[in-house]
Amino acid sequence: MSTPGVKLTMDGAELEVAPGTTLLEAARAAGLWIPTLCFDDRLAPFGACRICLVGVEGAKGPVASCTTEARAGMVVETQHALSRRIARNVVELVLSELPVPPAPHTELAQVAQRLGLDPTAGPAAARWAGVTHEPQLDHRHPYLALQHELCISCGRCVRACDEVQGAFALTAVGRGFHANIAAGLGAGFAESSCVSCGACADTCPTDAISERLLFDLAAAPDHRGAAR
Ligand code: FES
Repeated sequence: MSTPGVKLTMDGAELEVAPGTTLLEAARAAGLWIPTLCFDDRLAPFGACRICLVGVEGAKGPVASCTTEARAGMVVETQHALSRRIARNVVELVLSELPVPPAPHTELAQVAQRLGLDPTAGPAAARWAGVTHEPQLDHRHPYLALQHELCISCGRCVRACDEVQGAFALTAVGRGFHANIAAGLGAGFAESSCVSCGACADTCPTDAISERLLFDLAAAPDHRGAAR
């Protein structure tokens, strides 16, 4: 006998999902967009960034859709005004701490754009212009480049390293503005237990960790122009 589904209402539509389905999973299955930054469907939900908030009828305030399971009779609003305002403010704050705008192909830039923010504006244009992270490049790994200043502490690289590869090469360190990641107890990727699987670079939403070949190509002078 199959387990009965969970019936709920989302943006006015009646849905039925399997028990244990999160609100984010239900929304995605229904073709609805909810912004996320710390979520990766290959990893266990983390609930750190708080931009996936939605409104739930009767709840005291917005709830994180990536960690909240659907319950029978729930009435959910994914475009909830307060939730979207919080998401915009959080992403705006994250952008304001980066010394350079995120590359257009990154998840952060795309989420920002979809929330109506200009990810190319740079920190000087931020409403809360202030201190930005100091550029700090770890270029010691043969295949991976680590730009600490682009880390937004979403924890995805650490979880990918642990959950996908079981390598435990990365650690979350520091708090608040100083939160970041460390590889190999600070000695760098090359000296860590990293197995060069690239799961961290693959999940990073900002290119704080990227494949070194791509990083080097992006940083290289335009040889076509130089040859002319
Ligand atoms: Fe849900 Fe980050 S995506 S808290």
